[in-house]
Parts: sequence; structure tokens; C-alpha cells
Amino acid sequence: MVFVLWYLQNIIFNIYNKKILNVFPYPWFLATFQLFVGSLWMLFLWSSRLQPYSKPSKDFLLALLGPALFHTVGHISACVSFSKVAVSFTHVIKSSEPAFSVLFSSLLGTDRYPPIVWLSILPIVLGCSLAAVTEVSFDAGGLWGALISNVGFVFRNIYSKKSLQSFKHINGLNLYGWISIVSLAYLLPMAVFVEGAKWMDGYRAAIAAIDWPPRFYVWVVLSGVFYHLYNQTSYQALDRISPLTFSVGNTMKRVVVIVSTVLVFRNPIQPLNALGSAIAIFGTFLYSQASAAGKAKKKDA
Ligand code: 3PG
Repeated sequence: MVFVLWYLQNIIFNIYNKKILNVFPYPWFLATFQLFVGSLWMLFLWSSRLQPYSKPSKDFLLALLGPALFHTVGHISACVSFSKVAVSFTHVIKSSEPAFSVLFSSLLGTDRYPPIVWLSILPIVLGCSLAAVTEVSFDAGGLWGALISNVGFVFRNIYSKKSLQSFKHINGLNLYGWISIVSLAYLLPMAVFVEGAKWMDGYRAAIAAIDWPPRFYVWVVLSGVFYHLYNQTSYQALDRISPLTFSVGNTMKRVVVIVSTVLVFRNPIQPLNALGSAIAIFGTFLYSQASAAGKAKKKDA
């Protein structure tokens, strides 16, 4: 059930996020607004006592600084990518996140992987490369955004594991709430600096381009609400399932989102592009199988 909710919320987020970016191509604004909606939502949950609130300790806030910074990097770069290429292409590239995880956790020495896991990332890399060279909407900025987003989220996961180890009593929903709030503090000044001067003109152009202007506000708000909801659901899921099941679930999520957004936005897809995407996604399944087998071996040893 939690998976169905997570996927549905993610599809809705991806559709409205792209609808706005098509008329208002300011990803820094949108990414910041989405974190702002999440922060407001948490204030509501805490003040209405729908969620337990306890004053965060200094140690907890300090421990959050790293994971929230990397969450910010992952989020803004994904949004920049969404603004430049088809949503499906961003998600194909984002499906290669496990390959980044293997690479960086090996380089940092936080994890070691058997050769079979390294082999399993080959199809991910090959599939993504084939998808990239045959992508109709290809744009270098869109590719880089998705790649940087992978790096950001992998570092977020590595540092969450490291620094938030002793705060396991904080539930997933509250933890994600605090990550949103700290990320908002990081992103707001950067967004104003990068894009702030263009927002008013962009807003006027967007309103002029939409036949019924209130639709613009509805889309922006829906993207913010569903951005928070899908992340909140995924953090809640992480409380209950293993990281491995989570990563398989996340890959399935991308398949569902790719198919839905290709249908909604009627993106043209070349056969070789579909093949590359399928190989990349199949590669992430191989990766999860290989790392599950590797973990089982470690336990037995
Ligand atoms: C974001 O903007 O943070 C991206 O949509 C993240 O994508 P993911 O949660 O599917 O990795």
C-alpha cells in the first residue's frame, strides 16, 4: 500500500512540476518553493499535534547539516534537469544512482563490494549511455543535472548513515521534515542569487501563456504538496523496509513515472532509446540482486 501511495504521489509531482517548468522555466524558484511548502506542512503537523514535536537538540541539527546540504544539491540539480529535458530522460539517468553509490562508497571506504556488484553496474552505464545518445530532448545541462543529482543523493545517504546513526528514535516523517527545513535555509539565498532577478518577468510571461491564470498557482502548489508527500511517504517506508527493498521499489517507481510521463507529455521515443532505458533499468535490478547476494555471503562468513 505504501508503495502505491509513494508512486502515485511521485507521478503527480512529476506531472505538475514539468507542466510549470514548461511555462515558467525557473527550477531554482520551484525547488525552493517545494521545500517551503514542506516546511509549512511540518509546522502544521507539529502545531496541530498530528505529529509528535520535540525541540531538536543542537547535536541533531549539526548532524543534519551534511545530509540536508546533499539533499539540497540532489533536489535542485534534478529540478534543473527536469527543466531542460523530458522527465523520462532525467529518470533514466537517475536510475543509475546505484552505480554512483558503489563508486563513491568504495572511494570513501564506507563499503566494499564484490566483483559481481561491480559487474552489475556495467549494463546500467551502457543502458544510460545508449539512452543519452538517442534521446530526442537531449541537452547537456539536463544530463549533468541528473548526474549531479545522483551524486547529491548518494552522498546524502552515505552521510545520513554516518551522522544520523544515533538519532534513530526520530521517525522518518519528522526526519524528512527537518531535512526540508534545513534544505530550505540552504536553497533560498542561492535561488535568489541565481534566478531572483528573472522571476517577475518569467511570472508575467507564464500567466500570459496560460489560458486560465489561476491554473498556474494550482500547479505550483500541487507540485509543492506532492513533492513533500512523496518524500515523506518514502522516508516512512524506509522505517519499515530494508534499504535494498527500498532501492528496488525506487527503481520500479522510475519505471512507472517514465511510462506515465511519456504518455501524458506524448514524448517521442526512438526504439534504441527505449532499449537503452530498459537495459539501464534492468541493470539496477541486477545490481540489487548482486548486492543482496553479496550481503548474504558476508553474513554467512
Ligand atoms: C527532486 O526534485 O528531488 C527529484 O525529483 C528527486 O527525484 P527522486 O526522489 O525520484 O530521486
